Amino acid sequence: MDSFVLIIFGITGNLAQIKLIPALYDIAEKGLLPKNTSIIGIARGKKNQQEIKDYFKQVLHLENRHHKHPIKNQVLEQLYNNLHYLDGYLDDPNFYIKLKKYLDDLSKDGVNCKNKIYYLATYPNLYKDIFKNLQASGLNKQTSGWVRLMIEKPIGVDEKSARELNQLLLDYYSEDQIFRLDHYLGKETLQNILTFRFSNEIFEPLISKDFIDHIQIIAAEDFGIGARGGYYDSVGALKDVGQNHLLQMLAFATMDPPSEFSNLAVTKQRNKILEKLIPIPKKLVLGQYENYKSKENVDPNSKADTFFAFKTEIDNDRFKGVPIYIRGGKKLAKTVTEIAIVFKNPANRLFKHMDSGEEPNILFYRIQPNEGIVLKILVKKPGHKSELEPNYMQYCYKQTPDNHPFPDPYERLIFDAIKGDQTFFNDAKEVETEWHFIDPLAKQKKPPIIYKEGSWGPKEADKLIEADGRSWIEPSVEFCPI
Ligand code: BG6
Repeated sequence: MDSFVLIIFGITGNLAQIKLIPALYDIAEKGLLPKNTSIIGIARGKKNQQEIKDYFKQVLHLENRHHKHPIKNQVLEQLYNNLHYLDGYLDDPNFYIKLKKYLDDLSKDGVNCKNKIYYLATYPNLYKDIFKNLQASGLNKQTSGWVRLMIEKPIGVDEKSARELNQLLLDYYSEDQIFRLDHYLGKETLQNILTFRFSNEIFEPLISKDFIDHIQIIAAEDFGIGARGGYYDSVGALKDVGQNHLLQMLAFATMDPPSEFSNLAVTKQRNKILEKLIPIPKKLVLGQYENYKSKENVDPNSKADTFFAFKTEIDNDRFKGVPIYIRGGKKLAKTVTEIAIVFKNPANRLFKHMDSGEEPNILFYRIQPNEGIVLKILVKKPGHKSELEPNYMQYCYKQTPDNHPFPDPYERLIFDAIKGDQTFFNDAKEVETEWHFIDPLAKQKKPPIIYKEGSWGPKEADKLIEADGRSWIEPSVEFCPI
């Protein structure tokens, strides 16, 4: 694999601390960082070499609650050897002259700076200055190597601004250089949906309007906004996760088989589903948890949603008429992310008159926790009587808290970008299509309904689904125990 220099704009920010530095450590620990690879962290404050090392160490040991496995000194030392820091203001053209000189000096020392990955872990209002100045200082040239750009949400705040940002990106980079990251696409459990569906043909014929009654998707968190009040209050839950992670979950669960396992083929099928989603503004409920307005950096009169529930449908032959109910938010009863495909009950089901006899079969993709793929079935209760018992056929990852059997999404996606593989990144059209669907919902500016912390959101969300004679599935902890 090519060696490269990874330049992180915003190395002292939240994203770098929580996600990027731990991911880099994990990539290094697995021996996946090519030799001669350098990491240059950029931020405004001054730091010498020892201070940047101390900062990495502190982040890995203390700051990051997600990174629970032990840190090996040997791996840290290896990272330190390749670690650099440059201070500067990203809107100052002189900074890029300094960066260019720094890279030239590193090259003279034998470091490969021909291939570059720029990671934008900084504020979107700086993007234009960054692109323009990188261009002006010759740092975007691909004459002797490649240049890639990693960027993540928010990619705009609506379809129009997403288009503008995509245009700005395309003014400086070509689509194959731009890695738009939605970390849900890097989740092992989400990627496994494709394997499960397209390697086990027995299920695929059932995934259609002929057999499916409805689909439910949930991304609930039992915690609040933490220290992210400033950002969160400007977007709300629907835009924070509804526009991206939840739509991607739906796309993975319902897309047609790609013609091959390649970026173009997989992205095409995701796009085809997203384009066919029907927004139903009347079928949207927004909520806000009780004490949200008193949180740090939140407007005391905030109308931001911390919960949403909506109904949609896919306007294609395969799913026409199948209702899809999606909900997500913060300070809810449980932290759980799952997709539930609820099957129709055949009219002639033999045991339907018995207790539980009308319970539907449900295929669960449990994204987290208790990760697994699970089929809810009815079985005979052992004994002389003819009695039914709902139970589960399950594939579980058997994850334990101190054992991390699959890579963190950031680890995977940064590694994919190193390889130049865009299969699990969004292209420009995909992000715009997601906004195209969300805009009519978000533009209603409905005031959110206050709900109790630790509940499943406002009662109106129950009514949304009950109006169709259905109800939300209480996420089960009975399967795939940790
Ligand atoms: C982020 C959102 O994109 O995804 C957060 O900004 C949310 O608000 C997070 O908590 C959820 O990600 P995960 O991987 O913890 O489910």
